[in-house]
Amino acid sequence: MGGGRRLATGGHTTTVLDWAEPALTLGRELARQAPSEALRTARWQRLAIGDGVALPDGTDLVTVSYVLGELTEADRQAVVAEAARAAQAVVLVEPGTPDGYLRIRWARDRLLAAGLRIVAPCPHGASCPIEPGADWCHFAARVRRSSLHRRVKGGSLPYEDEKFSYVAAVRFDASPAGARVVRRPQIRKGQVLLDLCAPEEGLGRTTVTKRQGPLYRAARDVAWGDVWPPEEPAR
Ligand SMILES: C[S@@+](CC[C@H](N)C(=O)[O-])C[C@H]1O[C@@H](n2cnc3c(N)ncnc32)[C@H](O)[C@@H]1O
Repeated sequence: MGGGRRLATGGHTTTVLDWAEPALTLGRELARQAPSEALRTARWQRLAIGDGVALPDGTDLVTVSYVLGELTEADRQAVVAEAARAAQAVVLVEPGTPDGYLRIRWARDRLLAAGLRIVAPCPHGASCPIEPGADWCHFAARVRRSSLHRRVKGGSLPYEDEKFSYVAAVRFDASPAGARVVRRPQIRKGQVLLDLCAPEEGLGRTTVTKRQGPLYRAARDVAWGDVWPPEEPAR
């Protein structure tokens, strides 16, 4: 993506954009050991994203990760609009804070207005049932921390549970998953409490008890952020 410029991919399957050279250098370094070939062979391009951004038509996937919050409102609008115009799939990620969630909520509305279908985390394309200010939709991913990270952040654990909010949308036919587990499941004696966002019912809690057999075993394994019920029930 680029401010007033058209992005040329130069035959690379993946292009990573950032306007700061140190960020690109670090990313390049990390990507060298990445399991994904698309990342190992990515092109790292210094470019400001914002108003005037122009992506190649027919781009398969645009991800905008932890950046929307750093843009002006006009730039944010331009970036989301261009991603929605050019890509078959768009994934936007922000920090899992109330503000990060509100930016994702706003962007989700823009993606829907542009004709895309929401495939995650929401199990529907209707309005988000969360009352703004009362709660925020977010998930967590365990991220390994190097000793440098630990020193910089003053932590002692070799990992951190990074909280994030996200939305994934596609231009093609795709049905959203069932319900989504929107809080860490609570495992009690003989029962699991699941906070769900469901297609029809919206937000609510369901209790899965031992008497439900395979479903109970599946509930014990399900994680915050997973789809519920699992597509393949545990045996
Ligand atoms: C919090 S970091 C996230 C980096 C990376 N996207 C990730 O998910 O790990 C935000 C990055 O956005 C870049 N950035 C901020 N505003 C930008 C803009 N207008 N154009 C391009 N990059 C920008 C910063 O240089 C910084 O590297």
